[in-house]
Amino acid sequence: MSSLDLIIFSLFFFPFCALALSWLAGTDAPYVPTKMKNINKVLKFARVRKGKKFYELGSGDGRVVYEAASMGADAVGIEQSILRVWYSALKARNLNLPNTKFIHGNVFNKNYSDANIIYIYLLTKGVKKLEEKLTKELKKKTIIITQTYHFQKLKPYKKIGDFNFYRI
Ligand SMILES: C[S@@+](CC[C@H](N)C(=O)[O-])C[C@H]1O[C@@H](n2cnc3c(N)ncnc32)[C@H](O)[C@@H]1O
Repeated sequence: MSSLDLIIFSLFFFPFCALALSWLAGTDAPYVPTKMKNINKVLKFARVRKGKKFYELGSGDGRVVYEAASMGADAVGIEQSILRVWYSALKARNLNLPNTKFIHGNVFNKNYSDANIIYIYLLTKGVKKLEEKLTKELKKKTIIITQTYHFQKLKPYKKIGDFNFYRI
């Protein structure tokens, strides 16, 4: 292989690897989406509606954010995989949901003090760290929904199947 071949190969190979790794990204949980049939019921119970600020921490393909936005909320997803962020933002445009925003980054590097409702589907270690962070920074009456992996100190005011509901 000549050095020119090597340069051309590197120009394509490394960006491809970076994108492929981004699909697998998720330090606090792998990508496993919430089942569509549960989303509407859970968000309705949390009274997601116009005038509310909704965050999804680790937003995957954006499905929970779209549902919150279609119920009228100002809905934001934070996601580590740039591919999933691009996909979500594109789909939100196609669905004509201008009240959505997708941020590429780590959920621990953002402040959520303006939130009214937060949705979390991450593994135990990340959920535990978020419990500490969120109980310090959220305003009173903020609702948090966890799926499958739950807070350990706060007591849920409601449980529906795999979902727990907490109020600060
Ligand atoms: C179990 S999936 C849930 C996806 C989506 N919330 C849903 O319910 O359909 C977890 C998602 O969180 C993302 N994630 C994991 N750790 C993260 C972190 N520290 N910051 C941002 N996103 C993270 C993963 O990339 C993955 O897309």
